[in-house]
Amino acid sequence: MSKMAIDIENQYNQKTLSISDNFVNQIICGDCLEIMPTFPKNCIDLVVTSPPYFNIQKKYQRGTGYHYSKDFGEPLYIMEDASQELLRILKDDGSFCLNLGFSYGETGVLRPFYIVKRLIRQGWICIDVIIWHKNNPVPLQGRLTNAFEYIFVFSKSPVWSFKKQINYEHNVWTFPVEARIGTVASFPEELPKKCIEFMSRENDIVLDPFVGSGTTCVVAKKLNRKYIGIDISQECCEVAKRRLSDTKSIIKKRLFDEYK
Ligand SMILES: C[S@@+](CC[C@H](N)C(=O)[O-])C[C@H]1O[C@@H](n2cnc3c(N)ncnc32)[C@H](O)[C@@H]1O
Repeated sequence: MSKMAIDIENQYNQKTLSISDNFVNQIICGDCLEIMPTFPKNCIDLVVTSPPYFNIQKKYQRGTGYHYSKDFGEPLYIMEDASQELLRILKDDGSFCLNLGFSYGETGVLRPFYIVKRLIRQGWICIDVIIWHKNNPVPLQGRLTNAFEYIFVFSKSPVWSFKKQINYEHNVWTFPVEARIGTVASFPEELPKKCIEFMSRENDIVLDPFVGSGTTCVVAKKLNRKYIGIDISQECCEVAKRRLSDTKSIIKKRLFDEYK
């Protein structure tokens, strides 16, 4: 075999290929199911995301007849396709934090568990379940007020650990719901902050394939991580880019302040 052929083979057999600089520290506007397949395998350290509550894309109407209308827009289908790709691009020691609330619609309060079941079937290991307790929930009449969401933590390997020393940290995190940013229901900065601090190190690459208003990337930047955000909505991408241009790395800001 020629040296060039050996080099190419070695490159493809390498466990970790670095991702093109064109993607790093960027908000990419497009369908994450078309963009993520262009990433090399094992290139992402941490994924933090919350998928769309409802999907308007035609290809996510699966089944026929009764199921055709019943399943229209079901978010578990897009999450299932995205997580299959995430399994390929996440590093072997990486983590995937999936924030899921529940709705009282078709699959109701059990929807998060249907999604988790499909991910486990793909090979993900559910390492932890965190409850985000909202201390300012929207009050409901005639039903119990829904005051929590889940954050499921997945890994690719049972041999997994936090990237930071965890001392008596509870798995119930309490912080308020934030006001909408643009048209998107954003999660509060505390949610990705805890995930990023516990499950990544400085300069690691954090990906949010459904980045919305950019919260995950804003926090990653503040904590001196690299980030990649993807969103199909042009409007969301613009909001995210604007927020990021107003965001400074806390570490760089601290250094800068010390030299003033
Ligand atoms: C629940 S929001 C995410 C909110 C985000 N966590 C924040 O803090 O702003 C879900 C996002 O997924 C986006 N989305 C839906 N389908 C998508 C797809 N196929 N590829 C990428 N983004 C998509 C929507 O435009 C929406 O902004």
